[in-house]
Amino acid sequence: MAEVILVDLLHSDCSQYTVCIEQRVNKLKEVMLDVKEPVEVYILIQQPSHSSGQDESLSKAALLDQLVPLNRRVHVLVNRSWAAALDSFKQDADRLGLSNVLVLTSRRGQVALQRCVELLFTAVYTFLYRPVFEELRCPLSDLALTCSQLTDISDEITAFLQRLPALKGEITILRSPVVSDCFSHGFTTRNGGISCITTLSSLNLFSSSRRRDSRAVVAENLRRLGLQAGFEPHQFNLVKVNHASDVWVMSKPAPESYDGIVTNQPGVVIAAPGADCMPLLFTDPVAKVIGAAHAGWKGTLMGIAMATVNAMVLEFGSKLVNIVAVIGPSVGPCCFTMEPDSARKFQTIHPDCVRNMDSPRPYVDIRLATRILLERGGLLPEHIQDNTVTERPNITLCTSCHPESFFSHVRDGVNFGTQVGFVWIKEPHELNH
Ligand SMILES: *[C@@H]1O[C@H](CO)[C@@H](O)[C@H](O)[C@H]1NC(C)=O
Ligand SMILES: *[C@@H]1O[C@H](CO)[C@@H](O)[C@H](O)[C@H]1NC(C)=O
Ligand SMILES: [Zn+2]
Repeated sequence: MAEVILVDLLHSDCSQYTVCIEQRVNKLKEVMLDVKEPVEVYILIQQPSHSSGQDESLSKAALLDQLVPLNRRVHVLVNRSWAAALDSFKQDADRLGLSNVLVLTSRRGQVALQRCVELLFTAVYTFLYRPVFEELRCPLSDLALTCSQLTDISDEITAFLQRLPALKGEITILRSPVVSDCFSHGFTTRNGGISCITTLSSLNLFSSSRRRDSRAVVAENLRRLGLQAGFEPHQFNLVKVNHASDVWVMSKPAPESYDGIVTNQPGVVIAAPGADCMPLLFTDPVAKVIGAAHAGWKGTLMGIAMATVNAMVLEFGSKLVNIVAVIGPSVGPCCFTMEPDSARKFQTIHPDCVRNMDSPRPYVDIRLATRILLERGGLLPEHIQDNTVTERPNITLCTSCHPESFFSHVRDGVNFGTQVGFVWIKEPHELNH
């Protein structure tokens, strides 16, 4: 059932602009007689460009006037481009929590809108297209969109997103002094990106079918992070999130899923997401090998941290005593509770990993469990940076306790944002300064 109606009056390069729009408005009034739901109506209309010589007489006010008989809440979005118009629509839909959209358009408009929707929305939304403006006598309606016009739409969206101002200040990257200078690394915070939905704002670095941030927005956030940190987006490899313990050794074919990556190739950026789960970074300055892993409570119990370390040792000849591990921002024992059955598994690793074991929701320390497992695996205690380390800046902050700096699934619910930890081996030209 549609929650909102989107009417496509985007019609910029038509020689019979005024006539076509008039026909469409009349058709809209007719179609709306059959739409029973008390839905909001959004009308997309292009701001005429000065060069096109279009009649500018169809103002927002005139259009609203004509639509009074519909007896609906009508919003007119006047924008310069497809990207800007749909982005404005999305912001309203997100604010109102709407996701089922009925689109009234032409067949030609449908092709263009579908392309935009694919780039700017996710599977959270359902778009149903009705090309009701088809039979109108518009000179454009018989023309199919060419491939290059579709490419233009995607370029237009990219350019539009690149121009958006950064939200919540500048990109801020946390770094650990324990990592040698022959590597570049960092942990992102939530500042300086373009994602505008409250729980994703603003440097969300993960798009999923269950959340409202599109791949195009996440790609733009990644581009901005790369500019700041010194890498190109095509060099960036994020682990998949499977909550298991498979590791991809980058010189070999990628497994279907993996929560860890290891490599010895300079210039290749490897990264792990987290939003309570721990992004873990591993560096070996002697053998020049790196690893990145994503560890939530499941992955911790399955041993993803040591699986990543073991891959560095077995595949690239790292020695355990040379490996340095950094546990990134993640949910602390202050905020993370679990079912007693799961908590008991952490108690088995070490009793200190659980507080209030007898309560219905014991508190669990996934970082301490990780430190203990890494130390048992052979890493030196002083080569592990976590929240217990006092002689260095503390970057293992609690994601749930610091809403101004971090995203948190526990705190923010299903539509949560994601930060990442990333690392690469510097190339020779990066070592000179
Ligand atoms: C698009 O139009 C709406 C309403 O007219 C306006 O609020 C919004 O700022 C516009 N967006 C851009 C990017 O021009
Ligand atoms: C690091 O920060 C966390 C809060 O996010 C805190 O629990 C921990 O005690 C801090 N560690 C040190 C050594 O100050
Ligand atoms: Zn906390």
